[in-house]
Amino acid sequence: MRRLHLFEFGDQPWFPRLLRDVETAYLATAYRFIGLSRLWAEKILAVLAAGEPAEFLDLCSGSGGPMPLILDELAARGYKAHATLTDLYPNPKSAPHPRVTWLKEPVDATQVAPNLAGVRTMFSAFHHFRPLRAKAILADAFNKRRAICIFESGLGSLRAAFVTLLIPVNVLLLMPFARPFRWSYFAFTYLIPIMPLIIFSDGIVSALRIYSPEQMQELTKDLQAADYAWEIGRIRARGIPDGLPYLIGMPSR
Ligand SMILES: C[S@@+](CC[C@H](N)C(=O)[O-])C[C@H]1O[C@@H](n2cnc3c(N)ncnc32)[C@H](O)[C@@H]1O
Repeated sequence: MRRLHLFEFGDQPWFPRLLRDVETAYLATAYRFIGLSRLWAEKILAVLAAGEPAEFLDLCSGSGGPMPLILDELAARGYKAHATLTDLYPNPKSAPHPRVTWLKEPVDATQVAPNLAGVRTMFSAFHHFRPLRAKAILADAFNKRRAICIFESGLGSLRAAFVTLLIPVNVLLLMPFARPFRWSYFAFTYLIPIMPLIIFSDGIVSALRIYSPEQMQELTKDLQAADYAWEIGRIRARGIPDGLPYLIGMPSR
């Protein structure tokens, strides 16, 4: 499917902070119900050294996304892992977790400072970047020989458009479970119900923007070296017919 980079509310610098946080809080809540974190944690194991502490630098973290759940999954497998969360619009009050630290300063995923160490992760956000910037994100990890794990929670296929039809109902059902609770979540979901529509719109546009594995291969075509490997594919999950695109870049140990 040809990739379409249409308008998303979440991309706009003028999009109010309050609404931005409702949108990302919905995503973080949805992860608790759909069980993707276990599948993502299993893929992330590929870049971790068994028995060694793991440090993650999560980019585009939103309201924490699935990172707290992934840390718990890794802990259950015996890994001591810590994550630093970052975003262009940081939301440091989100994702309270003993092994999570938020960077309060904005971090642009396309310009990661060299002192920010750790395995780079990005969940449900790679589609925000047009090909040149997306490639720059991969090139930076590749040139600095940092591991990078990119996961999308949409399909990157036409069928995704049908799945997104459920989003408004999901928002109405899930927002009471968003933690930590904020009145703004309630207000903009039920009293002035604009968020189910905004998240619906952004969900459809995201589905059309997501890079397929073939498009991800194209982005990494010029980034090849004997001491760095790319793994690109789709994660098979129950109820998701085509699987979810992912990309992992890793330096040789
Ligand atoms: C769809 S949300 C995903 C949030 C989270 N990773 C999750 O899975 O719930 C995309 C996030 O990317 C952030 N973002 C967009 N452009 C960015 C950039 N250039 N650098 C860092 N973060 C960015 C937005 O602020 C937003 O929080």
